[in-house]
Amino acid sequence: MADIDVYPDAEALATAAAERFVALAAETIARHDRFAVALSGGSTPKALYSRLASPDDAMRVEWDRVHIFFGDERCVPPDHPDSNYHMAREALLNRVPIPRHCIHRMHGEMDPQEAAQEYEETLIGFFNTRPDEQARGKPRFDLILLGLGEDGHTASLFPGSTAVREEWHWVLAVNPEHAPQWRLTLTPVVLNAAANGIFLVSGEAKRERLREVLEGLCRPDELPAQIVSPTDGTLQWMVDQQAAG
Ligand code: 6PG
Repeated sequence: MADIDVYPDAEALATAAAERFVALAAETIARHDRFAVALSGGSTPKALYSRLASPDDAMRVEWDRVHIFFGDERCVPPDHPDSNYHMAREALLNRVPIPRHCIHRMHGEMDPQEAAQEYEETLIGFFNTRPDEQARGKPRFDLILLGLGEDGHTASLFPGSTAVREEWHWVLAVNPEHAPQWRLTLTPVVLNAAANGIFLVSGEAKRERLREVLEGLCRPDELPAQIVSPTDGTLQWMVDQQAAG
């Protein structure tokens, strides 16, 4: 069952999400000596990233034990304004002492299919789980941050996409109908193997869709965010009052 926390406004949401990130990182690093997190793109998490880079919070995370991955990426160069990596680099990664080798971006500048294949290899290497017929180990992120699009998408799993039902690949290249570029996305195989998933949702524009996702009929082909249900992990919705209604 998902856990839903409502905050008065976007700033309080960012503060609470930063607290959750700091606590989860400390707890995970104490146990595993590393914290593997997949960042979300879009505008909502930017406030969280900026907060984590603030003097108050930056030193509360052992950044040299953190490994940063991405839940999805637009197929553009890393300096392109649409790049999720570009946004995270400016808001967070260039402002905290995280070693460069701990940042694992999706190569949006490459051919999409090749970039998806390469990122899947990156995950296989990092999580040391060789896919085999019997027990294809799964990459278990300590935390995956997700957003909710106004059409119900999350990561780059869009309504009507077969990627929503993917059961083998961990990373796919997709060509969403209404998006200007090809995209790379983690599939539900990875999203649902996570130890902790957090949706960050802010703003009145998301209200109707959020209600449909949380309270409406289960129809993930139309509302891909509904496909996220960690098999053996927590799922938390952190939303502001504007989105919660
Ligand atoms: C992206 C994100 C995407 C995002 C939603 C919500 O690449 O755009 O991964 O899934 O989370 O579109 O975006 P906002 O936070 O900007 O509303």
